[in-house]
Amino acid sequence: MEPLLWCVKYRPRSWDDFVGQDRAINQLRGLAASKTLTNMIFYGPVGTGKSAAAEVFARELLGASYDSNYMMLNIRDVWDTPASKAKRSVQDLAKIERGKRSRLDEYMSVIYREAKAARSARGRSGEPTRTQLVQEAIRFFASTATVSDFSVKLLVLDDADALTFSLQQALRRTMEMYSDICRFLLITPSLAGWSPAILSRCNIVRFPGASEDDVSSLVEGIAKRESVKVDEGGIRAIAKESNGDMRKAINLLQVAAAASPVVNEDAVYENSETLLASTVRKIVSSSIAGDYDSARKNLRRLLALEGYSPQEICLEIERDIVKRPLEPRLMEQILDRIAEIDFRMTQGKNAFIHLTALLASIRAMTAS
Ligand SMILES: Nc1ncnc2c1ncn2[C@@H]1O[C@H](COP(=O)(O)OP(=O)(O)OP(=O)(O)O)[C@@H](O)[C@H]1O
Ligand SMILES: [Mg+2]
Repeated sequence: MEPLLWCVKYRPRSWDDFVGQDRAINQLRGLAASKTLTNMIFYGPVGTGKSAAAEVFARELLGASYDSNYMMLNIRDVWDTPASKAKRSVQDLAKIERGKRSRLDEYMSVIYREAKAARSARGRSGEPTRTQLVQEAIRFFASTATVSDFSVKLLVLDDADALTFSLQQALRRTMEMYSDICRFLLITPSLAGWSPAILSRCNIVRFPGASEDDVSSLVEGIAKRESVKVDEGGIRAIAKESNGDMRKAINLLQVAAAASPVVNEDAVYENSETLLASTVRKIVSSSIAGDYDSARKNLRRLLALEGYSPQEICLEIERDIVKRPLEPRLMEQILDRIAEIDFRMTQGKNAFIHLTALLASIRAMTAS
């Protein structure tokens, strides 16, 4: 059996399990206790407890009607379900092993038929498009009447930033049309790109990145329950490296604990760097030192052999640069240049050329 990930094992199951996020949690606890359900948006960076809080909120608020009146749709997963997969009938799915089909597969099978019927009602033949499938996936749950005591349903749309502009428009209409029977809870990393019409219909709850103190206390708590030895330097290193992402902090603890009997600063750093991060660090260092051959070789390796995208590499260069003790004025210049290259890569054909130009600029700017 695969060892259980601690971030799954210690996923908050009640309000008291959350560390930090006091404002959001108090607000939600109050709403759930008074059975107040409005449309909502949870926003904030990765690993801050948005999805876990939505789950606890739904359970507390809906009580016994949770099973029938709650649904969580991950918009990216729905979007990634092509018509050819959604097409499978419930009978087809029943033939697949239990572990290999998900609730989403079953739901999408129903949605495919609904979307197809809606198409032919409009006189169109052929497969429903992805957009139509996503739209129908949202509409279908919202539109079906409920049969339990708590008469309002809750539809959580996780990764809702994956909704395109036209899907946002459709969502707004669905919200309006079924406002008496269904409320929506949208989860997104930021409010940028959201239609004001949707924002104005929602109660907005912010989940800021976790503070280093909160990360430390979460990590200490888990270390104790897992009987892991961790010293102060180790905790501090995890708090720093995780950048306010609780999931990452827990993963760092688990990986370091597996590799070393005591989780200290060295154990954390030795086990925290990804191949991308350590190679990019080498690339930037050799560029600054003027050793282009080695920088280009490593860059090619990341792109061609390891298959990282130029955008990922560019983002990692930015992360690496901000960690370096550079003078503020110089830092500004380099960051500005990174933004320019990031844009150029979306316009140009050969990203390698733009990335090497970036390395040359870094060399020139740091040398002067
Ligand atoms: N405030 C918190 N208190 C305790 N644990 C937390 C908290 N926030 C996150 N975690 C841990 O991190 C894991 C991920 O949390 P969750 O899935 O809710 O994050 P998220 O904000 O939805 O992130 P993403 O944007 O990546 O989906 C949880 O399983 C839990 O272990
Ligand atoms: Mg989430």
